[in-house]
Amino acid sequence: MITRRVERALVRAGNRGRRLLSILKPYEPMGQGKELLDSQYASAEWDYLRSIGEAPRFGVVSAYCRLLASGGSILEIGCGEGILLEHLDRGRFRRFAGVDISSVAVDRARVLEDDRTTFTCADAEAHVPDRAFDLVVFNEVLEYFDDPLALVRRYEPFVEPGGHFIVSMFAGIHTARTRSIWRWLESRYAVVAHTRVATHRDHLWNVKVLRVPTPA
Ligand SMILES: C[S@@+](CC[C@H](N)C(=O)[O-])C[C@H]1O[C@@H](n2cnc3c(N)ncnc32)[C@H](O)[C@@H]1O
Repeated sequence: MITRRVERALVRAGNRGRRLLSILKPYEPMGQGKELLDSQYASAEWDYLRSIGEAPRFGVVSAYCRLLASGGSILEIGCGEGILLEHLDRGRFRRFAGVDISSVAVDRARVLEDDRTTFTCADAEAHVPDRAFDLVVFNEVLEYFDDPLALVRRYEPFVEPGGHFIVSMFAGIHTARTRSIWRWLESRYAVVAHTRVATHRDHLWNVKVLRVPTPA
C-alpha cells in the first residue's frame, strides 16, 4: 500500500516537473514523420486510442459533430484509423472525408468507406480537398505541425459559410505546446463552445468549437 502511494507520488512529481519544463521551453512540434507514424501504427502503439480512457474525448467530439453537421459534411484532418467515424451515427451525415499522413492507418480506415465516406493518405500541409465541408475536425493532431495556426487557416477556404472547426488537444503534460497553440488559434477564431474532458488527473483534453470567419 505504502509502495503504491510512493509510486503515485513519484509519478505526480515527475509530471509536475515535466509540466514546469514544458512551460519554460519555447513551442516545439511533436515532429514525427510519416515513416515513424507508419511504424507506430504497424506495431500497435496507437491501439490505445480505442481504449476506454479515450472514449469520452471521442464522445464530446462526436456530440459536437452531431449538433453542428447533422445532414451535412465533415472533413477530419489526422483521422488515423477512422475511430471518430466509428463513434458517429453515419446515417446522419451526407459526407465524411478523413485525411492522414500514415498509409498504414488509412489502409485500416478504408474498411469503413462507402458511397459517402472516403479516406485519403496525404500530408495535411499539402492536401487540397475537392469540396467544402460544414465542419473540419482536428482531433489530437495540431501538435504535429511547425505552424498549427497556418495549418488550420489553410482549411478555411474549405469550410462552408457559417461552418466550424473542432479542435481537441491533450492538456496533460504537454502544457506549453498546447497552450501556445490555443493562444494562436484564439487570436483568430471565436470559441463557440469548450468542453474539458478528464478521465484521470493527468489525462485531460480541451475540446473547442471555433467559428470560421466568413470571407469579406
Ligand atoms: C494522436 S493521433 C490522433 C488520431 C485520431 N485523430 C484520434 O483522435 O485518435 C495523430 C494523427 O495525426 C496524424 N498526422 C500527423 N502528422 C500529420 C500530417 N502532416 N498530415 C496528416 N496527418 C498527420 C498521425 O498519423 C496520427 O494518425
